[in-house]
Amino acid sequence: MSLNLEPELDGFAWWQRGVVYQIYPRSFQDSNGDGVGDLAGITRRLDYLRWLGVDAIWLSPVYTSPMADFGYDVSDYTGIDPLFGTLGDFDHLLAETHRRGMKLIMDFVPNHTSDQHPWFLEARASKDSPKRDWYIWRDPMPSGAPPNNWLSEFGGAAWTLDDITGQYYYHAYLPQQPDLNWRNPAVRDAVHTALRFWLDRGVDGFRLDTIHHLFEDEAFRDNPPNPDFRVGLAPTLAFTRTHQVDLPEVQDVIAGFRRITDAYGARVLVGEAYLPLEKVMAYYGTPERPGVHLPFNFHLIGAAWKASFIADLIAHYDGLLPPGRWPNWVLGNHDRARVASRVEPANAPLAAMLLLTLRGTPTLYYGDELGLTNVDIPPERVRDPWELRVPGFGFGRDPVRTPMPWDNTRHGGFTNSEPWLPLNSDIGAKNVETQRGDPKSLLRLVRDLIALRRRTPALSVGSYGIIESRGDVLVYERLWGGQRLTVFLNFAATTVYTPLAQGAVLLSTAGARAGESVNNLLCLRPHEGLVVETPQHAESDETP
Ligand code: GLC
Repeated sequence: MSLNLEPELDGFAWWQRGVVYQIYPRSFQDSNGDGVGDLAGITRRLDYLRWLGVDAIWLSPVYTSPMADFGYDVSDYTGIDPLFGTLGDFDHLLAETHRRGMKLIMDFVPNHTSDQHPWFLEARASKDSPKRDWYIWRDPMPSGAPPNNWLSEFGGAAWTLDDITGQYYYHAYLPQQPDLNWRNPAVRDAVHTALRFWLDRGVDGFRLDTIHHLFEDEAFRDNPPNPDFRVGLAPTLAFTRTHQVDLPEVQDVIAGFRRITDAYGARVLVGEAYLPLEKVMAYYGTPERPGVHLPFNFHLIGAAWKASFIADLIAHYDGLLPPGRWPNWVLGNHDRARVASRVEPANAPLAAMLLLTLRGTPTLYYGDELGLTNVDIPPERVRDPWELRVPGFGFGRDPVRTPMPWDNTRHGGFTNSEPWLPLNSDIGAKNVETQRGDPKSLLRLVRDLIALRRRTPALSVGSYGIIESRGDVLVYERLWGGQRLTVFLNFAATTVYTPLAQGAVLLSTAGARAGESVNNLLCLRPHEGLVVETPQHAESDETP
C-alpha cells in the first residue's frame, strides 16, 4: 500500500521536503580535549546524522567571538573562532556534509556585533569616527539617565553609557552586543559582503538571528507599560517592546538579504522572530518584496499540551499562511526548555511524531531525538549571561545546551576532559549508542519517522484533510495524490478507542504495530501516536 521508493518531488525545494537538525557547536563533539565542541568534532559525527536521516544541519554561530553570549556576539563575520577550529576545518565540514548529500545552514547575526568588533571599537573611539553612525548613539537625559525606558532582553536598560564619548549606545541584548544601525547603508553593504563570503564558500543558507530587532523607533519614544505585567514576573517584562521590535523597515532589509541569496540558486533563509503568528506572517514578505523562506514558527514551544489546543494551533497557523508560502515547525532550540521537560518524558515520542508528521519543514534540536530533559546546572557552573543577569526566573539556557551524550562512558564520549557544562545524569538510558541498539528507543522512532516522511510524499509535502481533536486524541490527515495518511495522537495516560472504518498502521510510537489492519475501531494505548494509511474515499470514518 505504501510507497517504498524515495520519490522524486519535482517542484519542491530541499528545504521544503527535508528535516533540519540544529547543532549547538559547543556541545556536539569535542575533538581537541578542551571540553568544548568544535568543527572537527561535528565532521566526525556526520555519519550519525546521515544515519538519522536528516537533510540539513543548522549550526549555531561559529564566528570569531569573545563568547559573551556564546557566539551570538560576533567580532568577525568572516572568521571562525579558534575555539571551534579554522576556516579550513569549516570548509572540510561543508565538503563532507555535501558529500553525504546534506546541506549546511549557518547562523547569521545581523542585529548586533560584539563590542570587540573592529567596527564598534572604531565607532566608540570618538564622536567623529567615520564608523560612529554604524551603531546607535544618544545623549544622556539631563539627569544623566538613559535616553528612554527601553529594556534589554537580557535584563537592565538597553543603553550603556560609553565613558569615552559620554553618549549611550543601544543594545537589545547584552552591553557586549551593541546594535548595528540598519538605517546606515554602509552597514547594509558590509553585512552583504559577509553573506556573500559564506555563499561563495558554498553554504546552503542562513538562519537569521533575532531579525525582528533590526530597527528601533526613529524618535526613540518610550515603550508603554506592559498591561500583563504582575508581581513575580521578571523586571525585564515591565514594558512592551513596541518601539524596539517588528518595525516595517525590517522587511526591506530582509528583501535585500533575499536578493543576495537568490542570486546563488537553491539557498534558504530562515528567520528568527518571536512574535504572534499573525505578525510572523509578514516575514514571508510579498511577491514584490520577498521575505525569508521560513520564518520560524515557535508556537508549539509555548503550546498547552492538549489535543484541542494543538488542533486549533495547526489549523490557525495553516489558515494564516499567505498563498504559496511554506510552513515550518519547531519543538525545541538552544533558547527554550527541552521538549521532553515541557511535555513530560512519557510524551516525548508523541511530540516527535507530531513534529515529524505536520505539514511544514521540521527543525529538530540536537539531543531531542534521545529525549534529553533540562539538565540541572549547579549554581557555580552557570554560564548563560541571561541567567547570570536575571537570576531565578527560569531564563537560564545552560540546561538545554549540555553536551551530546554519545555513549555511556565518562563524559559520554563528548570529550576526554572536563566538559564546559555537565552532561545529563540519566546518561545510562539517554545516549546515542544505547538507543541505537534498542529498537524501542526514542532515537529509533525518530529515525523511523524521518524515513517514513522521506519515502511518503503525503507526509513531507502533502496537504491536510481534517484537523480535529476527539477528546484527548489529536487527529489530522495528510493527503497526496491518491494517498491519505491519518495521524492519531493520544494525549491521555489511558487507553482510548476511536472509530476508524478501515486502515493499515504504518508506524506507532509504542512498538511494533506496523502492518496491523484496522476495522471499525482503532485502539490507542496511553500516550500512543499512530500513523495509519486510510483509503481516500471511505466516508464512514469521517465522523467520530
Ligand atoms: C537569539 C539567539 C539567542 C541569542 C540572542 C542574541 O535569540 O537564539 O541565543 O542570545 O538572539 O543574539
